[in-house]
Amino acid sequence: MSFAVLGTGSALPTCVKTNDDLSQILDTSDRWIYTRTGIRRRHVITSETVLDLAAEASRKALDAAGISPQDLDYIICPTVGGDYITPGLGCNLQEELGATCPAIDINAGCSGFVYSLDTADGIFARKKARYVLITAAEGLSRIMDWNDRSTCVLFGDGAAAVVLGEGDGLRYLKLRTQGCCAPLHGRFPMGNSPWTKEEPHTHFVHMEGQEVYKFAVNAICTGVQEALEETGLSPEDIHHVLLHQANMRIIDAARKKLSIPEERYHCCIEETGNLSAASIPTLLDLCSRDGLLHSGENLLLCAFGAGFTSGTAILTWK
Ligand code: UT7
Repeated sequence: MSFAVLGTGSALPTCVKTNDDLSQILDTSDRWIYTRTGIRRRHVITSETVLDLAAEASRKALDAAGISPQDLDYIICPTVGGDYITPGLGCNLQEELGATCPAIDINAGCSGFVYSLDTADGIFARKKARYVLITAAEGLSRIMDWNDRSTCVLFGDGAAAVVLGEGDGLRYLKLRTQGCCAPLHGRFPMGNSPWTKEEPHTHFVHMEGQEVYKFAVNAICTGVQEALEETGLSPEDIHHVLLHQANMRIIDAARKKLSIPEERYHCCIEETGNLSAASIPTLLDLCSRDGLLHSGENLLLCAFGAGFTSGTAILTWK
């Protein structure tokens, strides 16, 4: 027995910054950003906290599932970072929702949501839960270097949640970690230890775009092909493809190499930018609320990110 998705929700900060807005503070343009990435705008945190977004997304998912916070048996928060170094966002969210269950964070970069599905699968397999909440929430605008035009234009802030209940909706899930931190990382902030021998550094995200790009296309193609081989499903059997929304050119490059019909790929990157771990569940919520997903259809999810981590899952929608 594993799980089925009972409800979804998402939340974005109210402040929207278009590419043209960014060109007011950086040497960039709508044309460069849109043609290289497919992004037109992103939402950024101003007065909201990451917890605010996480709580709003969670409440929507709980409402959709018809579950109250007290019914939850586990909260998992995939995130690069909540509002505190410690405690984790999961603990903040548990307090905010008035839940009483255990709560943890998972930091697997942009693959965090798929990693969390795997953790949830284990919790259900051990019969430790009837309901699990996964809430991915990111405030990446706080850790971007807003002078680094090659990285800051790519990301946005947001949160998305799913409520899982016992069921047989998980058909396949495989995770990979290819330890390789240099091309995409953010450092822990400098402290003021009188004994540190650390060189001064910032906590901003550093990314070598082309290295990440090559890893990403390969991770998607390998992950999806393996998933089809190992499940015996054909490309035609996949009704919806929800890839991590990092760059439209990455999605297009993978789409050309795979034989899943083009119209089955869903995207929200134009409106949100890269939401890291919140990217796939945001897309899932948008598809669900738009009535695009039908019972019995197969959804293929594939994520990749810092680490390098990647993960592929096939869910059957109930
Ligand atoms: O969740 C995982 C996270 N990340 C990713 O998946 C990102 C993967 N990588 C990418 O998406 C792409 O590599 C980028 C979009 C980041 C960059 O695209 P690129 O085609 O690899 O560009 P580039 O880094 O080779 O830069 C080309 C030029 C450079 O100028 P010169 O040296 O040719 O004069 C850059 O300085 O574009 C310049 N450039 C910009 N120009 C205007 C870089 N960023 C910008 C910008 N606006 N925002």
